[in-house]
Amino acid sequence: MSTSTGFSEVYGRDAEAGWQSPGRVNLIGEHTDYNDGFVLPLALTIGTTVEGARRDDRLLRIASIEPDMPMVEVALDGLAPGDVDGWTAYVAGTAWALAEKGVPLVGADLLVDGTIPRGAGLSSSASLECATAGALLALSGADLPLRDIALLAQRAENVFVGVPCGVMDQFASTHARAGHLLLLDTRSLEVRHIPFDLASVGLTLLVVDTRAPHALVDGEYAARRASCEEAARILGVPALRDVTDLDVALAQLPDDILRRRVRHIVSENARVLDVVTLLEAGDVRAIGPILSQSHVSMRDDYEISCRELDLVVDTALASGALGARMTGGGFGGSAIALVETTDLERIRARILEAFASAGLTTPGFVDAQPGNGYGPTR
Ligand code: GLA
Repeated sequence: MSTSTGFSEVYGRDAEAGWQSPGRVNLIGEHTDYNDGFVLPLALTIGTTVEGARRDDRLLRIASIEPDMPMVEVALDGLAPGDVDGWTAYVAGTAWALAEKGVPLVGADLLVDGTIPRGAGLSSSASLECATAGALLALSGADLPLRDIALLAQRAENVFVGVPCGVMDQFASTHARAGHLLLLDTRSLEVRHIPFDLASVGLTLLVVDTRAPHALVDGEYAARRASCEEAARILGVPALRDVTDLDVALAQLPDDILRRRVRHIVSENARVLDVVTLLEAGDVRAIGPILSQSHVSMRDDYEISCRELDLVVDTALASGALGARMTGGGFGGSAIALVETTDLERIRARILEAFASAGLTTPGFVDAQPGNGYGPTR
């Protein structure tokens, strides 16, 4: 993920620091992170690199390695939500959140390079925020606990960018460990690294980018979150994580939509813990049906799937996958399938055929080897 050559081409001098932070794919635990629940993502080996060099003034210059992305200049002093929009808001927002946390930021020239396909639902935003935080901290000679970095990156997205996301993506990007899943309790913020070596048991996690347009900024994500908060209020619990008897809770809710939203969150939370139990017992193949149940719950109860995601899941399962589900925020983005490695090529070919015969854009396949969380590039 190094961009050294690009930096001197853009700025005419060498970078002084570089930080990289990965994207993620979530194995299970969807939309549970804003309900104080559990999530189980892994970091990908693709992500975002931010390289930088200090400036003597109080300016941030933000450039991208991608063509046709004009450089943006932002004054650090007086920076406030609403000042910057577009993709550079994730960078400026992270600077704003660091300053708010008391970090004495210096001005900087920054260059961003990313390898996560855009719109794939693989957390390019969190990876950009976290890589920016790492680079700005290094340039400013400051440091913060990893947990604070994840939280301030989320705050940048919530307040500065205006997306009411939970904290899963930023935790995955900063805390993940190669060869492991990251079990995060989003209430206590405790993490556990769960070994996830699929190759040793002949399995592969296939990630399929449906290329269906995917935008969390639109109202659907916020609407799901609001429904969960409303249901928790009616049920008299701090968060849906605290629902202990689903049937009793369902009987207390006034309408069918709220009942379905709650059923997804409560059952999904339990599925995360069931998957962890099976993985720790070495029973990896047994998680397949749980992944598929999660998809049905998101499709029918949480209503965040779409035609392309359902097509990947249905085709993968019909072609012998052990389990499959959409992953991430939904309404587009990516789906995953747990497959026997010997079936991988056949299942990929079936998915390509299914998309072609439905007249849909050709989907992309992403390598899902669990990688490390964020760190310096040199
Ligand atoms: C997006 C959000 C996360 C999480 C997922 C759904 O990726 O950024 O916080 O809510 O959707 O699980």
